[in-house]
Amino acid sequence: MSNSIESHLAEDRVFKPAKSFSAKARISSMAQYKKLWKESVDKPKKFWAREAKELAWRKPWKKVLDWKAPDAKWFTGGKLNVTESCVDRHAAGPRRNKAAIIFEGEPGDRQVITYGQLQREVCRFANVLVAKGVKPKDRVLVYMPMIPEAAIAMLACARIGAVHSVVFGGFSSESIVDRLEDSGATHIVTADGGWRRGKIVPLKDNVDEALKKYQGIRSVVVFKRTGQEVAMTDGRDSWWHDETAKVPAKHEAKAFDSEHPLFILYTSGSTGKPKGILHTSGGYLTGAYTTCKYVFDMRDDDVYWCTADVGWITGHTYIVYGPLAMGVTQVMYEGAPNHPDFGRFWQMIEEYGVSIFYTAPTAIRAFIKAGDQFPEKHDLSSLRLLGSVGEPINPEAWMWYHDKIGGGRCPIVDTWWQTETGAIMITPLPGCTPTKPGTATLPFFGIDAAILDEEGHECKPNEGGRLVIRKPWPSMTRTIYGDKARFKKTYWSDYKGMYTAGDGARRDKQGNFWIVGRLDDVLNVSGHRLGTAEVESALVAHAAVAESAVVGRPDDLKGQAVVAFVTLKEGVEGTPALQKELRDHVGKVIGAIAKPDEIHFAPALPKTRSGKIMRRLLKELVATGNVTGNTTTLEDFTVIDNLRKSIEASRKTG
Ligand code: WTA
Repeated sequence: MSNSIESHLAEDRVFKPAKSFSAKARISSMAQYKKLWKESVDKPKKFWAREAKELAWRKPWKKVLDWKAPDAKWFTGGKLNVTESCVDRHAAGPRRNKAAIIFEGEPGDRQVITYGQLQREVCRFANVLVAKGVKPKDRVLVYMPMIPEAAIAMLACARIGAVHSVVFGGFSSESIVDRLEDSGATHIVTADGGWRRGKIVPLKDNVDEALKKYQGIRSVVVFKRTGQEVAMTDGRDSWWHDETAKVPAKHEAKAFDSEHPLFILYTSGSTGKPKGILHTSGGYLTGAYTTCKYVFDMRDDDVYWCTADVGWITGHTYIVYGPLAMGVTQVMYEGAPNHPDFGRFWQMIEEYGVSIFYTAPTAIRAFIKAGDQFPEKHDLSSLRLLGSVGEPINPEAWMWYHDKIGGGRCPIVDTWWQTETGAIMITPLPGCTPTKPGTATLPFFGIDAAILDEEGHECKPNEGGRLVIRKPWPSMTRTIYGDKARFKKTYWSDYKGMYTAGDGARRDKQGNFWIVGRLDDVLNVSGHRLGTAEVESALVAHAAVAESAVVGRPDDLKGQAVVAFVTLKEGVEGTPALQKELRDHVGKVIGAIAKPDEIHFAPALPKTRSGKIMRRLLKELVATGNVTGNTTTLEDFTVIDNLRKSIEASRKTG
């Protein structure tokens, strides 16, 4: 059909899990996956109830699902305290003295927290929050570095039924104000500062700045991390260590309804103010737990490391709630991947014997750019499974990850999901799914994913369309906090009763899902609609290229011209000859239609603080020569300025 997204990138490298890996996996053959998947979408209530039963419930549910689109209620009538599944049940058994968190600070300080200790710390901090007057459903803003106390603060909120709203420590005081106002938070947990690339991030100062503009805060509890002088406001601010010393390390947990709100997490859309994505308790925890169990196939002897920050959904689901519900040992790291150099992660994997490693394509591309000498210095043989999340992973980045980090032996789970979905939705299962570089492969159990054209028909193989989920699932967001109308309009208005993800995708002949990019970013060249991911992946496949972003610029003749921004590998020089070579390369890999009309070499691309390329800004820049749109989520403001200058210069000369 005319409006479909075309696809030109063919990938035929297929990697099957090793027999020795499959033999030990929970799901060890495609036949087993297919049977269970069919069962799980034909009878989702049966599947999810079976999984949910593995968590700690105080009172069994009466009904698995109440569904009237877009409103889902899971496990209604059931009562639980989320922290009993994540902490108490382990502390009460043989995992009592097992490491829950192995922490390494950026300066090199270390700490191991066992499940028994975690229980005591969570209880203590729950008691502190109660003493501060925090009540169930009150919103508590958590603005912390990547230290165990961030997880402890989140779990303490969950324990007393308060709703945490974590704000990434890299965000400014203005972002804090926006989130305080939108959530109506009454309490804040923060630290004096955190370490990032050898410098102190002044968290408490940022909070103080924000609180000049927001009056609703009754208490601020401050963890001492970096030790510099900070202002403490009498009657409002107090130190974590003073407060926890006053309270007992026991706290009797109350049970809450399965649909009790657990957290709000703000996600920035491409336009407009951030959306407060609301998640609730029983269903969310079921999604987090079940995906850890099958996708990472977590075992008691695994050492798991997810490099995300707790300020993102990946940190919520795959650092705090999922892995802890599984009772696994995990590594947590405070700082930057390149501090003191790009060897930090590999050194930590070697030292702690990490067996499961979960990171983002943006990090992988940065490692490729830095050079192979860093991983080559370390013994990475403890790894058995790798994961990727956050963006489409370019096939060449996938191959590098597979060869250089996974030593060719580790399956890669390329996991597609969103803040809104709460847990992984499309993913390989490591013991059975044949993987191809660049595809997140097949839907997880209980997930009815499809690709539809504008009229709502399912697309044919390799025809691009909109990615939708046709049935409810337990960890789905319940609403945008305080804005039901926006929730309905954003996610539930394209097709009746179905969730639209906002991503463009296609399925290949084997049924694998390929995400081609955000629908807002799709290019339209002479009537051909092209996803950004394919053109970018074609560029990254060239030996000189580390990373790329492709956008459309208005063009009288073609509708849109293709403009590519390219970051080269260390030591490669950006010459006119290379520009031509890259243009021809894209022509060869994809076709003449996708050949970039302009190529700009850029030392860095504009990204969100979670590492996603901000094509919206590049689009504005190439169309108007300037950026006026919302840039509050941009990681580094100088990047845009430098790009503007280089575009001006190159358009003058060429
Ligand atoms: C993108 C992150 C391709 C996608 C968990 C999605 C991906 C958005 C993948 C959600 C993947 C995430 N392959 N694209 N494996 N994972 N995305 O809310 O566009 O930060 O809609 O959640 O990231 O980003 P969010």
